[in-house]
This record gives sequence, C-alpha cells and structure tokens, in this order.
Amino acid sequence: MNFSKRIIAMDQSPIRKLTPYAERAKEHGKKIYHLNIGQPDILTPKSFMNAIKNTNAEILKYTSSQGIPELIDAFINFYKEYNFNFERDEILVTNGASEGLFFSAIAIADDGDEILVPEPFYTNYQGFLSATGIKTVPVPTSASTGFRLPNKETFSSYITSKTKAILLSNPSNPTGIVYTLEEMQLIADIAKENDLFILADEVYRDFVYDNIEFHSFMNMKEIEDKVILIDSLSKRFSACGCRIGAIITKNKELIAHILKLCQLRLCCPMLEQIGAVELLKTPKSYFKEVLCEYEQRRNVLYNELQKIPNIVFHKPEGAFYVIVKLPIENAEDFAIWLLNDFDINSETVMLAPAKGFYSTENSGMDEVRIAYILNEDDLKKSMYILKEGLTKYLSIKNR
Ligand SMILES: Cc1ncc(COP(=O)(O)O)c(C=O)c1O
Repeated sequence: MNFSKRIIAMDQSPIRKLTPYAERAKEHGKKIYHLNIGQPDILTPKSFMNAIKNTNAEILKYTSSQGIPELIDAFINFYKEYNFNFERDEILVTNGASEGLFFSAIAIADDGDEILVPEPFYTNYQGFLSATGIKTVPVPTSASTGFRLPNKETFSSYITSKTKAILLSNPSNPTGIVYTLEEMQLIADIAKENDLFILADEVYRDFVYDNIEFHSFMNMKEIEDKVILIDSLSKRFSACGCRIGAIITKNKELIAHILKLCQLRLCCPMLEQIGAVELLKTPKSYFKEVLCEYEQRRNVLYNELQKIPNIVFHKPEGAFYVIVKLPIENAEDFAIWLLNDFDINSETVMLAPAKGFYSTENSGMDEVRIAYILNEDDLKKSMYILKEGLTKYLSIKNR
C-alpha cells in the first residue's frame, strides 16, 4: 500500500514522541514530572460542567456550523473587555485553535505557497501547513538574542512571490516572549507592504507577567482586514479537553470562505459549546488568581534554572514555556536518557527536545522546551532532578 507524500513527510509531535519511553519508565515504577506538555493542572471553572449537567436538551443535535448563536454572542461580550468590537459575522467557533489554524491556512494559501513563521515555533504549525501542502518558511531567531525578531530588512528577505502570510503566537509558545509594539509594527508594515495575512495566535493572551502591556494585532486598525485572530478556551480556562476555539477577523469575505470548511465538518460538539458559553462569562477575578499562580511558577522556574551552570535561557514574559540551551550536543538523547537511565529516589523528568520546534535543519539540537505547569514544590523538585541529571549526563559523556 502507498501512502501520500504529504503524510509521510509529516513528523510525529516532538512533545509526545518520547511518550513510549515515559510509559516504560512508569512501568518500572518511576514517577515522572511532565515538563514536556502544556496541560495546565488548574481546575476548570465549575460553570462549564454545571451548564452541561443542567441542560434539558434531549437530543445531541448538529448545531450551526458557525457555532451556536449564544456562544458567538458570549465571544462578542467577552472581547468587549479587551476593547475588541466584533459583529456576529466576524466570528467562527472552531474545534480548538488547532482547527482554526488549519482552516485559516487552507483558506489563505494554496499548495506550494509559503507562510513565514518566526522560529522556534509551536510545533504543530508545521504539521497544519505541511498537511495542506503549504511550505513553512522559518524566520530564525536565537536563544542568544532572547528570540527577538530580526530587523525589517532581514525579516523581509524571506518573502517570495509565494508568501501568503505571517504566522506567530503571541505570547509565544515555545519561547515565552511577548512581542513589543515595535516588533508588531514591523510585522504590520511588512504585511501591509506585501499584502500578507497575519495569523495571530493569541491563545496565551492573558498569560503575561511583570505587568508587561500586551498588544494584540486586532487593535491595529490599519491592517484589520489582514488579521486573523486565532483563539481558544483551552489554556485560559484550563479547558483543553473542551476543544472550543474561534477564528475572528474583520475580513468578512474570508469568514464566508472559511465557513465552507466549517460546513464540511458540520459543527462543533453541542454540549461543549453550551459549557463554553458559561466559561466565557467567568468573572475576571478567576483569571487574576490563575495569573498570580503562573507568575509565581515562572519565578520559581527562573530562580531554579539560575542554579544550573552553563545553560542559556531568558526570563519568560508570557505563556508558560521556556527554551533552554544546554551544554550538550543532543538534547533528545539527554531527554531519553533522563527517562531510561536516571532517577533520584525513583523520580525523573520528561522534557521536550526543542529541535521539533524548528524547521531549519540542525537547529535547536542542544535545546529543550520546558512547560512550567507544575505546582511550586514539584517544579522545584523537577529542576533539581534536571540539574543533577545534567551533571551526571555530562560526566558520562565526557569520560
Ligand atoms: C501556540 C498554540 N496554539 C494553538 C494551540 C492549540 O490549542 P487548542 O487546544 O485550542 O487546539 C496550542 C496548544 O498548546 C498552542 O500552544
């Protein structure tokens, strides 16, 4: 049997690739601290489950392909708090940000077209694009310069006649940076001059620390018809399993096109949409507490990382990830070794090797991505395990 070139070219998710090693380690009685995946441990607001328990629906029906009207209205009200004003025909409910990214890419680029993505990037971007025949064109950034964007001339040098869009997450998974207004203006100018869409993935919009001011591309009036906002309830409400996200754009023609894709998959799950309406009404105070908790975890992580010699990292400004450059050659080998061959009192850590967050060959080989989604005690323990593990690994390799 033959399989498509498209599917063969796709890589396994680097976040889950090491799962078989982790499962084996667990079978051998090891406890694993998962630093590899962005699954928050914060409780989902009860309003979600309550709304589902209390529904008097008797049939699980197909709902509107666009999303149930109550949910569209709930999104509109929710965005008012961010000074975004949307109309009903500017929002499509999607199965998470993932489907929103997938559908948007299909709608704005053809087979062989190119989308620019600051690198390192959320690893699934490459999967969404390659599955639809679109080429990911990385715009390299590096740990040594804190993953800041290059200047306009360098950024623009990656544009060809096939470039259709710039895709980026802000705050960034995996680097933890929050783009400055200057960086956003640079992207906005490039998009305007070259007639490109901006796929602005803002699923971590609320996770911004140190009182840094967050700027959304949606607030840049001069490019509003070019901005496609990708959003999700997954992280904000610790509701990754509810699979509700949204595509939001002032470009109504684009919405009409993407709606055709929404119609193909008929609708998002009915009960989850009912629950999501209530999630979007969650008082702001809920998120204040969540933010405090994450900022504290970020601080713990930062302090603990500083105790590890010869590594390079930057204080994350947002989201809940950091890329760490290690004094080793092959971070994947190290991550596997931690699972297979190392433990402290039968405990070890699982890291995500960062090479999967790069598409430039041989980039990120010596880096890992850490998700700081553990409570303070577990985070401290896991950073200690990482420190001791690194020392032992280096002593073995340098023998
Ligand atoms: C930057 C980014 N975009 C999109 C997603 C996917 O979100 P969803 O669960 O809404 O599909 C993730 C998940 O980790 C992410 O980190």
